[in-house]
Amino acid sequence: MKILVTGSNGLLGQKLVYALMHRKDITLIACARGENRIHSKEGYIYESIDLNNPQRVEEIIHSHQPHCIIHTAAMTNVDACELDPPGCRMNNVDTVNYLLLAAKKHNSHFIYISTDFVFDGASGPYRETDPIGPLSVYAQSKADAEQLVMDSGLPWTILRTMIIYGVTDDTQRSNIVLWTKKSLEAGTDINVINDQFRGPTLAEDLADACITAATTTAEGLFHVSGKEVLSILDIAYKIADYFGLDKKYIHPITTDSLKQPALRPLKTGFIIDKATRALNFHPHTLEEELKIVEEQLSKKQVI
Ligand SMILES: NC(=O)c1ccc[n+]([C@@H]2O[C@H](COP(=O)([O-])OP(=O)(O)OC[C@H]3O[C@@H](n4cnc5c(N)ncnc54)[C@H](OP(=O)(O)O)[C@@H]3O)[C@@H](O)[C@H]2O)c1
Repeated sequence: MKILVTGSNGLLGQKLVYALMHRKDITLIACARGENRIHSKEGYIYESIDLNNPQRVEEIIHSHQPHCIIHTAAMTNVDACELDPPGCRMNNVDTVNYLLLAAKKHNSHFIYISTDFVFDGASGPYRETDPIGPLSVYAQSKADAEQLVMDSGLPWTILRTMIIYGVTDDTQRSNIVLWTKKSLEAGTDINVINDQFRGPTLAEDLADACITAATTTAEGLFHVSGKEVLSILDIAYKIADYFGLDKKYIHPITTDSLKQPALRPLKTGFIIDKATRALNFHPHTLEEELKIVEEQLSKKQVI
């Protein structure tokens, strides 16, 4: 089976590459912008591609004819999207259109990664059947791309997820766990939002769900996240507790006081029963996930 992963330099993309690179039953084509930033280069084909170039998209899909495309690439900085709606639309909607058009010729199974931000956050946790209500340019772009995927006529799977974290080869990229840990270790004060609620998702768990969807051709819309829904503040406290770090540097703040360009849904969280049944999705507990992160960080320090 041939699987093509877009955004392979990103957090989820890297996890997918590491999970698939040694599988004898899978030919993996990893695609990202510019240089391959994954340290291990064996066991897969790397294609450099800017997805904003429709000819290049067509060329890559045509030359590999993948059975499945896992599309993780996106402009993921929510505030940058708010400040640049055309750029957001280009990277998050037009690119999906190019991929779907190219995939149509080969009837590739299209797996799209979407977000809890498609909801307005008034009444989480959410099921797949709940109505969406995007609040930001980013959220609208992801909702529009979902619709394109659903209308594509291709076999499709949409996995909505939230607040992904994990350790990557790209040390520039941060996420809630790495940022909190690094800041507290350095004794740096951090402002952490106390009125937004999420289910933090280990990137490996999400990658597993993507791979199950790809290999079993499970179609439809699925909510895939960690089980525990906590305020961002409580997530930071749990991280501090797990790593034995001082919580005095954590300062609770409200969403309003931050004055970020993009609105965020306050309370999301997912009901993941459907993914548990259809994708055999059993995410780790937050405690187990932090242990995995700790082990991965210690291996990186050894290297
Ligand atoms: N992170 C979260 O908490 C979260 C939550 C909900 C949903 N999601 C969704 O989950 C997916 C994966 O997220 P992630 O955290 O792994 O994202 P990420 O780490 O930000 O990676 C996204 C990747 O997409 C690439 N990309 C963006 N535009 C591109 C283009 N035009 N051509 C080629 N590559 C392009 C970026 O390339 P560069 O590295 O070159 O910039 C980046 O490597 C995304 O679709 C995101 O919307 C993420």
